Amino acid sequence: MKLISNFSKQLNGEINLPGDKSISHRALICSAMSEGESRIKNLQESEDVLNTLESLKSLGIEIFKKDNVFFVLGKGFKGFTEAKDDLYFGNSGTGLRLMSGVLSQQNFPSRLTGDDSLSKRPMKRIIDPLSKMGANINASKEFTLPINIIPSETIKSIIYEMPIASAQVKSSLLYAGLGQEKETKIIEKSATRDHTERMFEYFGANISYTDSEVTLYKTDKFLARDIEIPGDFSSAAFFIVAALISKDSKILLKNVGLNPSRIALLKKLKEMDGDIEITNKKNLGKEPVGDILIKSSYLKACEVSSNDVPNLIDELPILFIASSFAEGVSKFSDIEELRHKESDRLLAMEKGLKKMNINTFFKENIFCVEGKGKDYLFSGFEVETYFDHRIAMSFAVAGTNCKDSINILSPECISTSFPEFISLGSKLGCKFETS
Ligand code: S3P
Repeated sequence: MKLISNFSKQLNGEINLPGDKSISHRALICSAMSEGESRIKNLQESEDVLNTLESLKSLGIEIFKKDNVFFVLGKGFKGFTEAKDDLYFGNSGTGLRLMSGVLSQQNFPSRLTGDDSLSKRPMKRIIDPLSKMGANINASKEFTLPINIIPSETIKSIIYEMPIASAQVKSSLLYAGLGQEKETKIIEKSATRDHTERMFEYFGANISYTDSEVTLYKTDKFLARDIEIPGDFSSAAFFIVAALISKDSKILLKNVGLNPSRIALLKKLKEMDGDIEITNKKNLGKEPVGDILIKSSYLKACEVSSNDVPNLIDELPILFIASSFAEGVSKFSDIEELRHKESDRLLAMEKGLKKMNINTFFKENIFCVEGKGKDYLFSGFEVETYFDHRIAMSFAVAGTNCKDSINILSPECISTSFPEFISLGSKLGCKFETS
């Protein structure tokens, strides 16, 4: 299959975004670890999240859907039962790394696997600290999948200074620390998304956290809760940029998650002179949400510093696209972590941008994108996605400003995070076709 993204004259209209991926994983896992029935609305029904859901079912948790609400019958921190087969997490680093923390403290063995991409991704980052906590966890010689966990006598308290900025690692340790006698303390050099902390608090955990430190104190149980998941900001990001770079566009994205640890992209785009307005702010549980109004804009180049990176790590590919249609050279510091995502995103984007005739280069370790301004119209081409959803969606957005069209290969990968991308984009006026 190919996704053909054609020149799109203008984008207009309003949409609601499906639930946030990070929060959806956490909502399912926390509900499964609570006591009683939790109800989840606006769960992201992507392949990644559904793999986490299926793994929880294989571990003895009853989950069913009725009238668009997911019901999860939680069994407490240690109430899971041994799965008959391997637990398969598909493309999802989040599902697998978070569940490794959960399974480290169960009294049965587990084997965790994933697709080709996940099987190549680094797992030492969770194996080292979970082992320090007393977990019996190992992987291949190269610290890649499958992960094997065997029951351990005790999970110990830990004070862990994170060597890399990763919310997945932080969260994995917090899940392993649930129900333990002593505290789990994690210190971060750069703040990462705090959805786990907020969700734990919502479920009644004894937890305190700041931008640089989180401490989980002895917590005996989670109370079952009703959860409504905010719209996914990382999914919204594609349409935000699409509206900014096309002409005469005005779109409204409703009920989007605005957690401060996720929205550095908005700050950057505003610094670039993007016309973006937030209205209707409110909270869903512990998460802030609002509506985002976006109008076409003449963008100027941006500068992303190392401290900004964890907050917009998933939005860097689409920010490269925005930068391509900005005036001037955009500069990105310390973005090496992009090489360890669902694909080597830096390489994938460099290759695609080259086909757009956008010049990119490194200057003293800073990645630079030479923008060509809003009126830049390039000729069509075919682009590899490396089966990476965010690469596919980034070039689908670029295609809306193409003289003719971009052909996007293996667009099925979009379903890992945003199965509704093509239909919602078309509703806003993106000229997408599949063949
Ligand atoms: C996520 C954290 C980020 C992000 C991923 C989702 C999460 O990964 O890239 O898409 O839900 O915790 P890292 O924490 O590994 O940077």
